[in-house]
Amino acid sequence: MFLEKKKIIIAIDGYASTGKSSQAKLLANFFNYSYIDSGAMYRAVTYYALQQEPKGEINFQLLLKSLVNIKIDFLYTIKGQQTILNGKNISKKIRSLEVDSQVSNVASNEHIRFFLTTQQKMMGINKGIIMDGRDIGTVVFPSAECKFFLTASPEIRAKRRYNEQLKFGIKNSYNEVLQNIINRDYMDTSREVNPLKKAKDAIAIEVSDLSLYEVFQLLKTEIVSKLKN
Ligand code: CDP
Repeated sequence: MFLEKKKIIIAIDGYASTGKSSQAKLLANFFNYSYIDSGAMYRAVTYYALQQEPKGEINFQLLLKSLVNIKIDFLYTIKGQQTILNGKNISKKIRSLEVDSQVSNVASNEHIRFFLTTQQKMMGINKGIIMDGRDIGTVVFPSAECKFFLTASPEIRAKRRYNEQLKFGIKNSYNEVLQNIINRDYMDTSREVNPLKKAKDAIAIEVSDLSLYEVFQLLKTEIVSKLKN
């Protein structure tokens, strides 16, 4: 573990399934920082909305009225970060293809983004935090000391997500997973409010040919150098 008095904010943004969360977890462990998966918050709101309208259609009018009733917490266990929605552990449920296919639609709504980014900004008030997502370096923490932007080919990302879902006991075809990743990339980069884009001062890393450990080493080295300066 790395112990350093100076605390900074680390933002990791990038395309779907580039390993942002895995890196954030490893780094949080190494630097003894807290870790927030902002995507899990958008997924939790999407899951809530799908419970309201089980036919798979999001009723935005109803959802926006219900935002006051949505409380998202994170619990840290040996199994990793658990996402708690109104007291219920929904960590597995938010990884379903149903949530995958609606989350970018929900995340394109400006009121929902405001609702979640306000909470995310508060989480960084004492620094010593790593957050991953789509708009962390651009909107949530524009003055984060360390920003990364991860990219990889859609096929590699789909393969990775497919295997990850199998581990969760979720069986979707590789093609469904790939299509979802392509759709989400498109929606996330083209939406009007806080689209996915690299912050000017973010370090871009193409991870297609790198192992988890190699990426971790790259990020760790950058962070250590920021902490020493
Ligand atoms: O893990 P993966 O990269 O597949 O996605 P995620 O981080 O769980 O995020 C799921 C979705 O939430 C993304 O496709 C975005 O539509 C949305 N999101 C966002 O708009 N802004 C964030 N800061 C994080 C996620």
